[in-house]
Amino acid sequence: MRKNVIAGNWKMNKLLGEAVQFVEDTKAKVPSHDSVESIVCAPFPYLPTLVEKTKGTDLKVAAQNMHFEESGAFTGEVSPSMLSDIGVTYVVLGHSERREMFAETDETVNKKTHAAFAHNLIPIVCVGETLEERETEKTMEVVEAQVKAALAGLSEEQVNQTIIAYEPIWAIGTGKTATSEQANEVCTHIRKVVADAVSADAGEAVRIQYGGSVKPANVDELLAQSDIDGALVGGASLEADSFLQLVEAGA
Ligand code: G3P
Repeated sequence: MRKNVIAGNWKMNKLLGEAVQFVEDTKAKVPSHDSVESIVCAPFPYLPTLVEKTKGTDLKVAAQNMHFEESGAFTGEVSPSMLSDIGVTYVVLGHSERREMFAETDETVNKKTHAAFAHNLIPIVCVGETLEERETEKTMEVVEAQVKAALAGLSEEQVNQTIIAYEPIWAIGTGKTATSEQANEVCTHIRKVVADAVSADAGEAVRIQYGGSVKPANVDELLAQSDIDGALVGGASLEADSFLQLVEAGA
């Protein structure tokens, strides 16, 4: 039985005071970690404070990106060891906004996935097709290539712990959600890709989130699907009340 993972991706939003207020309003109210993993993916400057404020609670903190190198001349970058050193436990990798605007590739995502495990960070690996790819019926092919590339070279045990977020790019921040059937169809395919590439057990174990205009009104239907194990949520995760409704739906 896979446990749902509900992650709020704040993207480049909130000032420090607002971020702190959010965790103060939610950390004691999120359901037990045994029933659902509740995560906030916060901007880098807030991570140490949020990790500190959520210590001992069921609310976990993720970074939204990182470099794959350990240290060195990479001005403006943050390393995996810096994240694990301050107590971050999850990291979002390969978000479509980073692939599109910051030259993230399947190859860098794979390097980052390996670097995450080397530093005890659980990767949330994002994959998804553009509108044009969907309309030309390339969705499965595109997503399959992204999944295989991201997981290449990982051990079965590492794949079992990986979280994959299927986010159709055309559904991000547009208010257009994939229907729950469309979302599940791709998540089922991803599970099969993992089973074929790694093992049947890994296919069963890997958690697959859906992301793209998820909100309290549609989360139940999405989570009821056979192969959807949670959600990666942008806009609807910015308000504490709405985030709490989403994590409760996942419990
Ligand atoms: O990572 C979450 C995401 O890209 C979806 O954003 O605002 O459509 O929920 P949103």
